Amino acid sequence: MLKQSLWSSFATAPAQYPKLEGDIAVDVAIIGGGITGITAAQVLSERGFKVAVLEARSIGHGTTGHSTGNLYIIIDELLSSLKAKYDKGVVKRVLQSRKDALEKIEQNVRNFQIDCDFSRQPLFLYEDANNMKILEERKVAEEIDLAFTELAEDFPFEQDMGIRLENQAQFNPLLYVLGLADALDEERCSIYENTPVRSVEDQEDRVLVYTDDAIVAAKYAIHATHTPKGLELQYHTTLGPYREYGVAARLESNSYPQGIFWGYYNNQKYSIRSYSRGGEKYLIAVGSPHKVGQAESNRKHVEELVAFLQERFIVGQITHTWGGQNYKPADLLPFIGRKEKNSREFVATGFSTDGLIYGTLAAVIIADKIEDKFNRYEDLYEAARHEPVKSAKKFVKENANVAAEFLKDLSFKGDDKDLEGIAPGEAGIVTRNGEKVAVYREENGGYKIVSALCTHMACMVSWNNVEESWDCPCHGSRFNTSGEVIEGPAFNPLPKKIIE
Ligand code: FES
Repeated sequence: MLKQSLWSSFATAPAQYPKLEGDIAVDVAIIGGGITGITAAQVLSERGFKVAVLEARSIGHGTTGHSTGNLYIIIDELLSSLKAKYDKGVVKRVLQSRKDALEKIEQNVRNFQIDCDFSRQPLFLYEDANNMKILEERKVAEEIDLAFTELAEDFPFEQDMGIRLENQAQFNPLLYVLGLADALDEERCSIYENTPVRSVEDQEDRVLVYTDDAIVAAKYAIHATHTPKGLELQYHTTLGPYREYGVAARLESNSYPQGIFWGYYNNQKYSIRSYSRGGEKYLIAVGSPHKVGQAESNRKHVEELVAFLQERFIVGQITHTWGGQNYKPADLLPFIGRKEKNSREFVATGFSTDGLIYGTLAAVIIADKIEDKFNRYEDLYEAARHEPVKSAKKFVKENANVAAEFLKDLSFKGDDKDLEGIAPGEAGIVTRNGEKVAVYREENGGYKIVSALCTHMACMVSWNNVEESWDCPCHGSRFNTSGEVIEGPAFNPLPKKIIE
């Protein structure tokens, strides 16, 4: 079984673009080379702006390359949740904005002839019992004239009730982003890989973006990193960082269901889809969400997904397993636009698990703002908004959770380990001379030791035994065993430590 996303098995080798090694000046510096950053680069360069994309690792291999590749106009939390907070006009506008973004993706695939297996597919929602979600969703759909239809009799999953939405879509998200990056005008758009950004300075007349070896001077900067980098507390306190796992399997039956399937079992959502390329077929299941850095055992979440598949299909082989991160906004709408009034920095965050569509939409909204052009959705997703009523309950819950993690660290309790007690391939938190360090023992018996305190705001990281990373339970920063930042708001690596 490969510990990588299914999509990366079909992508070209990473690191096709150079590292930035000298200072440059551009109109717009885009931090992050996922679907948001690359689409923003496309839109802005087409409009005549000179842009630079600064990707910490490899284009498309972050959250975009770990998503489901499903494209749909409703939202992960369902329209009924949205309707519980907003009026029907808002729900309709969210749907329309997401439909526009889906069409933009389809148009890009066509115009640039991107070989990414894009196809229009139906989306199915079904429940095995209770049916409250389906009943509520159907009710909201009727109110806003969204045409769900009944399931056909030969529906491939056991269910008690379900509905179908036509004309959604699927693709290989990594091949799409790599194809789009490849199609960009090299004169106006430079892409840099292995170029992590360490800080951003918003000056009066320009933004300075600092990498390890260079400074990018720009008129504007876009944080296309899924969550803004740095101490952006107005966002980090209203977003909950979650992680889900994906597994891909081959089936003995060779009968792979076509479409996007969202099944609700015991109130837990499981997303299922098939994928085929080059004669190889796979069934993918994604689910088992949990707060980043707070799982008792990440392995248990993957095992649950595998068991879920094995209970419903004759599974031949599990071929891939991977994790993906998302940030849930307390008021259910993403934050897209200027970081704050008059700022030269733009943010695009809080996409929940709907980021392929929201990332595309964010690219267009932000490009319009930079061009000083009206966008009909800018007020809907206004980044600097404050909606105390809409976000109240979840805001309190997320912050209480973060506070609890801080206190846990300060109390210096938890599962401290002996250095010698850590087996090869395993890891643990060790206290030495009153300092917490994160220790990973390599297969050859050597140790990799880094500070256990997250460089974002000093919460204590915890071990992710599936992806072999140190994950921060407060705002979702993740680090590899050498301490390098994988994702999240932290700019800097966990400092290396030596134990005598
Ligand atoms: Fe904020 Fe670690 S991500 S403290």
